[in-house]
Amino acid sequence: MTAVLLLLNGVGLLSFWLSVEFSTPTIQLASEIQQGHSENIVCNIPRLKVRDSTSPHRNISLSRGPDVLSSNNNKSSLEYSFVADLQKDDRTEIICEASVQVGSEVLRKQTRRVLNVVASPFNVSISANRERYKTNENIKVTCNATGKPFPEFSWHLPSTEGVEFSDNNRTIEISSAQSSHNGTYLCLANNIYGKKSARVDIVFEESTHSWIAAVVVVTLLAVLITAGVVLYRCQK
Ligand SMILES: *[C@@H]1O[C@H](CO)[C@@H](O)[C@H](O)[C@H]1NC(C)=O
Ligand SMILES: *[C@@H]1O[C@H](CO)[C@@H](O)[C@H](O)[C@H]1NC(C)=O
Ligand SMILES: *[C@@H]1O[C@H](CO)[C@@H](O)[C@H](O)[C@H]1NC(C)=O
Ligand SMILES: *[C@@H]1O[C@H](CO)[C@@H](O)[C@H](O)[C@H]1NC(C)=O
Ligand SMILES: *[C@@H]1O[C@H](CO)[C@@H](O)[C@H](O)[C@H]1NC(C)=O
Ligand SMILES: *[C@@H]1O[C@H](CO)[C@@H](O)[C@H](O)[C@H]1NC(C)=O
Repeated sequence: MTAVLLLLNGVGLLSFWLSVEFSTPTIQLASEIQQGHSENIVCNIPRLKVRDSTSPHRNISLSRGPDVLSSNNNKSSLEYSFVADLQKDDRTEIICEASVQVGSEVLRKQTRRVLNVVASPFNVSISANRERYKTNENIKVTCNATGKPFPEFSWHLPSTEGVEFSDNNRTIEISSAQSSHNGTYLCLANNIYGKKSARVDIVFEESTHSWIAAVVVVTLLAVLITAGVVLYRCQK
């Protein structure tokens, strides 16, 4: 008797499960999401059928960690739009969860995806140890930027003479600068998605000390000569 009941129960359950077609939700998104661009995520239950009803009660939601980004009650799909941000979105995991009501039971299925955000170079900055220099002083200029993939750096310089490149071209150094090094220093950051530059003017200054010294010496000489001439004349 119990065996028969169990069997009937089993058959009932089996036919119940056979009458439910509920596929795992899918997530559609660009394989490469660009920083600053508007992007779409579509979450969808491709196949859903419960006991001959093609529209049983169901929900779909998209979340990231504890935040629900979007949800749609009694719908089979949802669309979420956002402006991608490298720092905020890259490598974060999103979860699309679908649930379906079958009698008193709620079935749930979910899919996870990790966002891959790429970015052309941005936040390019340039800094120099000095913006005015005198002969034989040293000049050091450093460039920085963000981007994914991480940018490569190159330079446009007033003169490449005596210039040393280091730190993967992020830094240039001139240990003994000359007047030819006066001008605009431009750093260019680039990757496959784009490029961006930053610049700084570094100005050569004649050494004021030697100027003053020269003026003083010339004046002193003039005074001495005049004095000498006057004395010589007076003695005559
Ligand atoms: C859910 O949607 C289906 C059609 O898509 C409709 O037949 C059903 O009544 C809805 N259920 C509720 C609770 O709104
Ligand atoms: C769908 O969402 C509504 C409101 O959030 C909830 O009352 C209902 O139980 C959910 N249905 C399923 C099948 O999860
Ligand atoms: C650049 O850096 C600043 C400060 O770190 C930040 O607030 C900003 O969002 C960054 N991005 C761009 C595109 O400027
Ligand atoms: C370069 O910039 C990045 C991001 O803006 C920052 O995390 C990093 O510390 C900077 N590096 C240097 C050497 O300033
Ligand atoms: C470093 O910058 C110089 C000057 O722009 C460039 O000629 C050189 O190719 C760069 N080197 C690398 C490794 O990017
Ligand atoms: C030095 O460079 C600046 C621009 O950075 C330019 O305006 C100036 O004329 C230059 N001076 C000399 C002496 O070349």
